[in-house]
Amino acid sequence: MKKVGIVGARGAVGSELLLTLHKRKFPVSAETLFLFGSERGAGTTVETPFGPKEIELFSLEKMSGLDVVFLAVSGEFAKENARKIAEQGAVVIDNSSAFRLVDDVPLIIPEINPEQAKGAKLISNPNCTTAILAVALYPLHQNFGVKKCIVSTYQATSGAGAEAMEELRVQTRNYLDGKEVTHEKFLHPIPFNLIPQIDVFQDNGYTKEEMKVTLETRKIFGEPNFQLSCTAVRIPTFRAHSESVTIETEKKISPDEARQILEKSPGVRLVDDPTKSMYPIFGECGLDFFVCGDQLLKGAALNAVQIAELL
Ligand SMILES: NC(=O)c1ccc[n+]([C@@H]2O[C@H](COP(=O)([O-])OP(=O)(O)OC[C@H]3O[C@@H](n4cnc5c(N)ncnc54)[C@H](OP(=O)(O)O)[C@@H]3O)[C@@H](O)[C@H]2O)c1
Repeated sequence: MKKVGIVGARGAVGSELLLTLHKRKFPVSAETLFLFGSERGAGTTVETPFGPKEIELFSLEKMSGLDVVFLAVSGEFAKENARKIAEQGAVVIDNSSAFRLVDDVPLIIPEINPEQAKGAKLISNPNCTTAILAVALYPLHQNFGVKKCIVSTYQATSGAGAEAMEELRVQTRNYLDGKEVTHEKFLHPIPFNLIPQIDVFQDNGYTKEEMKVTLETRKIFGEPNFQLSCTAVRIPTFRAHSESVTIETEKKISPDEARQILEKSPGVRLVDDPTKSMYPIFGECGLDFFVCGDQLLKGAALNAVQIAELL
């Protein structure tokens, strides 16, 4: 059994990590699993598939002796603590963006670059939108050579955390009851709305979320010049991000060939019935496709546990 710590265990990603460790039969038991939170959550008991567990107040001292620590807190928290935890011996898998583009920290999607996790003490889990896109894009890139990729995302509220999902629930009720609709976690009211801004705008006109998808994909593919443009939009759903993707390829590509490749690609489930729906092609060297994935799973908890399984 491994001694496993989850910091941020009450959050959207933390609670999903608990379910995923149990579902995938990760070698951990009630006795070797330790949950941590802030002063807000410390002392509360949460129901887990391993039985009820108390949330302890996080401290660096409590990290010593653990084999694997999953961080599901903010980037600032990770910057402050991740390397210190790793120095105490545990392998740290961080869900925040703090280290994703740092040279000496591998950014891992187990279906794509598992070898880079070997021997690492601190590993970054990619942005949820990147992970969902990359598992489908990479096999197409390997087989047809992607020259350009244009992505439009439809991102669920859970991508912004547990409180953001609650804002959707409460404000939708307010909207339907004719009460005042307010917003805190989102830049605008979220019920029945689309918000084409996730995170802050950068000097180049893209938002930080959009640039994460471009820069992280380049790092994971090991191709610093990979051409990818992303438009990220928040939508009023609870979970699962969707992405509409157009690629221009070096080699000729057809929907049939793409289907054959995707069908046997790890981490991808092909759901496609052209007899009932239409799927447009984009010239002889291009393809439009639509990917959908639960970003709390492949975009966070599942990918993190798959990384831990590599160790
Ligand atoms: N949501 C997603 O789809 C997603 C996907 C990929 C990556 N991420 C990243 O994963 C991280 C967690 O996101 P989330 O959506 O799960 O956020 P969340 O629902 O807001 O949860 C954050 C957790 O962090 C804990 N926390 C805050 N300050 C702490 C401290 N000083 N010490 C210990 N614990 C502390 C909180 O514990 P208390 O409850 O005890 O206050 C809470 O459980 C973020 O960096 C996010 O960007 C999220």
